[in-house]
Amino acid sequence: MFSNGYLSGKRILVTGASSGIGRQVALVLSACGAKICVTGRDLERLHSVEKDLYGEGHSVLCLDLNGSDAVTDAIRNDAEVSGAFWGVFHGAGISMVRPAKLCKEKQFHDVFSSSVQSAMAIARAVSLRGVLEDGGALVLMSSVASLRGQAGMALYSAAKSAIDGMTRSLAVEFAPRRIRVNSLCAGAVHTPMHEKLVSSLSAESVKEYEDKHLLGFGVPDDVANTVAFLIGEGGRWITGTSIVVDGGYTVR
Ligand SMILES: NC(=O)c1ccc[n+]([C@@H]2O[C@H](COP(=O)([O-])OP(=O)(O)OC[C@H]3O[C@@H](n4cnc5c(N)ncnc54)[C@H](OP(=O)(O)O)[C@@H]3O)[C@@H](O)[C@H]2O)c1
Repeated sequence: MFSNGYLSGKRILVTGASSGIGRQVALVLSACGAKICVTGRDLERLHSVEKDLYGEGHSVLCLDLNGSDAVTDAIRNDAEVSGAFWGVFHGAGISMVRPAKLCKEKQFHDVFSSSVQSAMAIARAVSLRGVLEDGGALVLMSSVASLRGQAGMALYSAAKSAIDGMTRSLAVEFAPRRIRVNSLCAGAVHTPMHEKLVSSLSAESVKEYEDKHLLGFGVPDDVANTVAFLIGEGGRWITGTSIVVDGGYTVR
């Protein structure tokens, strides 16, 4: 969809790169000429993704995002050693479907640390000298759960709304460096996270859920192409917004 020179030579950090959407974002950005730093917790899976990337100059950063100060330090160290990033796609996150009565401190911690605290830790790294190039871009993974209510989704929705709120303020804060910050609210996309979710539903409920997406469920490429657009020249005048990529889920 994009030329292989669209992001030529640009270093891009991709979190959640070992699976699903993050993996596909890493593949698409590498096909656009970017040098990808793939991160996640599972070294073996990260190396396997690294092998599948197009071009050369990619790297692996094995990192548990639950622990914000260590996350900032690891990203800063990587940039010091291997060069500043042009962009960050923050795709890491876990799903959480359970009624409010079952949402205890641990669930709150797990959802917020992998998605929100880590996003703030990335933002803190970006604010440090030499980590992100001026003019670069940050894309944070949100969800339609930020925009629509659903039983059992309070914690997950809260985390994604936090991402959207953070996006707006970071966009203002980083604008003097012309760094663009946007979030991406995705509808249901076929990934291991999605398959796990639908495996607990009846065939009838899955159909009902899919029918709410006017264009059906998405595939990781649907999100990855939007990320490429936003991180590259296509998104040069877009900042502080939450882009909805949901096959029409939120239209009615
Ligand atoms: N699929 C959907 O329908 C959908 C819809 C809307 C939004 N989203 C969002 O899109 C993002 C990607 O989802 P996905 O469907 O691609 O999920 P996925 O296939 O389960 O992948 C999740 C990724 O997040 C990483 N991760 C989770 N917790 C982590 C932690 N503490 N530290 C480091 N990495 C961690 C995982 O890495 P490990 O190898 O370390 O486990 C994995 O690479 C998530 O933020 C999700 O909320 C998904």
